[in-house]
Amino acid sequence: MIASPLSRAIVVVLTWGACMASQAEAQAATSLPEGVTPAMVTEGAGIFKGAGICFACHGPDGKGGVGPNLTDGTWLHSKGSYAEIVQQVTTGVPAKESKSGIVMPPKGGSTISEAQVKAVAAYVWTLSHPATK
Ligand code: HEC
Repeated sequence: MIASPLSRAIVVVLTWGACMASQAEAQAATSLPEGVTPAMVTEGAGIFKGAGICFACHGPDGKGGVGPNLTDGTWLHSKGSYAEIVQQVTTGVPAKESKSGIVMPPKGGSTISEAQVKAVAAYVWTLSHPATK
């Protein structure tokens, strides 16, 4: 059978509709990102306010200070996925990429381990996904 332009258009619309529906589902999902456990989130909260020194620039609740608000779902440097937050915390924000002119050193200048970076990133992710907390 030769697909007519009309049937092809219908296929396109149906495919698009399915995509939008699955995106809405993903947004409504209350599950943590893959590889993240509730224990990591709890540990990350302690790192944020402790060894990671994140609180010094992002505020004790992550609502911002010298560094941007991490709770509002608005991201200056990524789309705010868990993987991107891990990457961001690892590398920090160098001067040439900083929007405010203020630099974030790698790991905020702290000496936290890779596992601690993943935990603090998990906590940061939950700040803008309150349903998962
Ligand atoms: C010395 C201050 C400072 C410390 C400490 C610091 N940050 Fe930052 N952070 C910043 C600044 C400044 C920016 C954004 C720079 C800009 O204006 O582009 C930033 C950006 C970020 C971003 C990207 C935000 C976005 O909107 O895309 C994340 C995520 C982040 N920081 C997490 C952390 C975490 C987690 C820690 C602790 C391990 C931490 N920061 C420690 C200053 C800091």
